[in-house]
Amino acid sequence: KRIVVLVSGSGTNLQALIDEIEAVGSAAYGAEIVAVGADRSGIAGLERAERVGLPTFVCRVQDHPTREEWDRALAEAVAAYEPDLVISAGFMKIVGKEFLARFGGRTVNTHPALLPSFPGAHGVRDALAYGAKVTGCTVHFVDDGVDTGPIIAQGVIEVRDEDHEDGGAALHERIKEVERKLLVEVVGRLARHGYRIEGRKVSIP
Ligand code: GRF
Repeated sequence: KRIVVLVSGSGTNLQALIDEIEAVGSAAYGAEIVAVGADRSGIAGLERAERVGLPTFVCRVQDHPTREEWDRALAEAVAAYEPDLVISAGFMKIVGKEFLARFGGRTVNTHPALLPSFPGAHGVRDALAYGAKVTGCTVHFVDDGVDTGPIIAQGVIEVRDEDHEDGGAALHERIKEVERKLLVEVVGRLARHGYRIEGRKVSIP
C-alpha cells in the first residue's frame, strides 16, 4: 500500500513510520511512504523526509486566494502520489470538502487526547486544565468534523501532579511515546488487512 504522510511540525510520528518500514521492510509492513506533505516549510518533519530521500511538498494556505482553493491544491498534491492511505501525523490544518471527497474514508489522524474529550489544537493543555487524571492519544479516520471521525485505537496515559508545572510538555512527550507505537501498529494493520467503516465502527479483519 502507498501512504502519503502530512506533517506540520517535528515529525516524530513520521519518523516512527520511517523507522518501522526501514526495520521490517515495506513488504512485511504492508506499506511504503511515497511522499510527505506539509502546510509550511522549514519544519523538522520535512527534513526527516528529505534525509531518507522521500519526495516532499508544501501547500501553504497563504499561497492560495481562498481556503477552498488551498484545500483543492492539497488534494491535488496528495493525489499526484496516488496513495491508498493518507496519514495526518501532527498535521495542524482541517481538511475540507474537496480533500474529503477524494480521500475521506482513507485518511487517518492521530490526536494527543482521548476523543471525544479535548478535540482541537490544544488537546494536551485542555486535558490538564480540566484536571483529567488520565488522558492519552486517539488514532481515528478523518471525517468532516474536527477530530470527530470513527476511532480506530486509543492509548491511555496517567496524568501526574508535576505535569501541571510545565504547561503539558512532559505529558505530551509521554503521550507521544504511546502515540508513535499506536500509529505504527494501526497503519500497518490497515495496510496489511484492509478495513471496513460502518457508521462509527471500524473493523479490521
Ligand atoms: C502529535 O502528538 C499529534 O497528535 C499532535 O501534534 C503532535 C505532532 O508530533 N497533533 P510530531 O510532529 O509527529 O512530532
